[in-house]
Amino acid sequence: MPGRLQNKAALVTGAGSGIGLESSVLFAQEGANVLLVDINLQAVEKAAAAIAQKSPNVKVVAAKADVGKEEDIKAVVDRAVKEFGRLDVMFNNAGTYHTTSCFTARRAHAASGIMHPEDDNALNTEERIWDLTMQINLKGVWWGCKYAILAMRQNPTDEAKGLHTGGSIINTASFVASMGAATPQLACMPLYSSRIGCLTRLQGAVLAMTRELAMVHAREGIRVNSVSPGPLKTPLLMDFLNTPEKRDRRLVHLPMGRFGEAVEIAKAALFLGTDESSYMTGTDLKVDGGISSAYVTPLGEPILPPPTSLV
Ligand SMILES: NC(=O)c1ccc[n+]([C@@H]2O[C@H](COP(=O)([O-])OP(=O)(O)OC[C@H]3O[C@@H](n4cnc5c(N)ncnc54)[C@H](O)[C@@H]3O)[C@@H](O)[C@H]2O)c1
Repeated sequence: MPGRLQNKAALVTGAGSGIGLESSVLFAQEGANVLLVDINLQAVEKAAAAIAQKSPNVKVVAAKADVGKEEDIKAVVDRAVKEFGRLDVMFNNAGTYHTTSCFTARRAHAASGIMHPEDDNALNTEERIWDLTMQINLKGVWWGCKYAILAMRQNPTDEAKGLHTGGSIINTASFVASMGAATPQLACMPLYSSRIGCLTRLQGAVLAMTRELAMVHAREGIRVNSVSPGPLKTPLLMDFLNTPEKRDRRLVHLPMGRFGEAVEIAKAALFLGTDESSYMTGTDLKVDGGISSAYVTPLGEPILPPPTSLV
């Protein structure tokens, strides 16, 4: 049976870890040639080698790029077209975690360059830090969309292979684009609240930009959607939620009673990337365990186990 992305080409940013890594594995399993992009070249090279072994029938390439730099994004989109002859799926996913401690946020900044250590609360954040944060986080998604659109317009049509012009762009947002939080980790409150203030606006802006681009390019065969993950069981979040009390403080708000898995977001991205979602554009697909619909959540333990990672 042909894969759901057979003969297609995908570019995934933030492919060295978490959602991006699971998505790259899944896209390749479903027949896509995949360009794995990350600021951490070692991580994507290792991932690409493992995927190539598991999915020998597709082409898997790794490349370094900082999504905060326009020239980097242009270069990797050009590379995808050069390697694969087309670009059908652009997954603008790279980013850092949205709910974190002062320590973890600084570590994340050091690792990724996305969140500035001087990012503080609404009263203390300097304008230049705000501008820098927006520059890196939001413009990265814009540039990813921009160069993907330019490439997708040139996609050759081959009906026999189910290939057509246009493509699918998927932007990772977050449940914090739609919800507020007040978590009493007092020592971390200044930075924590700046995340809620700053990143919520950022993720909200990603939703707005996704809708707008979806409208502008709807008749070009280019679909633009976002996926909003809920809190995931990633090392970054689990490092921070390092006591049962901290985990329970969140779990009580999660109707399913568990954190999400990166692979669960990858499956949503796969759906948005394929023609199975051909009548969807401008949509935000919430994959958040129901948290954004919750008022009172059930008691008790979850009955079903979470899905296992593909990595
Ligand atoms: N994990 C969650 O609970 C959660 C929830 C909501 C939204 N999100 C969003 O999902 C996306 C992915 O999160 P994740 O949990 O998979 O994170 P992750 O930390 O596991 O992976 C992020 C990847 O992005 C890469 N990266 C960071 N900065 C980059 C840059 N400037 N250029 C290129 N690559 C860069 C990192 O090296 C890393 O490999 C992020 O945008 C995050 O905000 C995550």
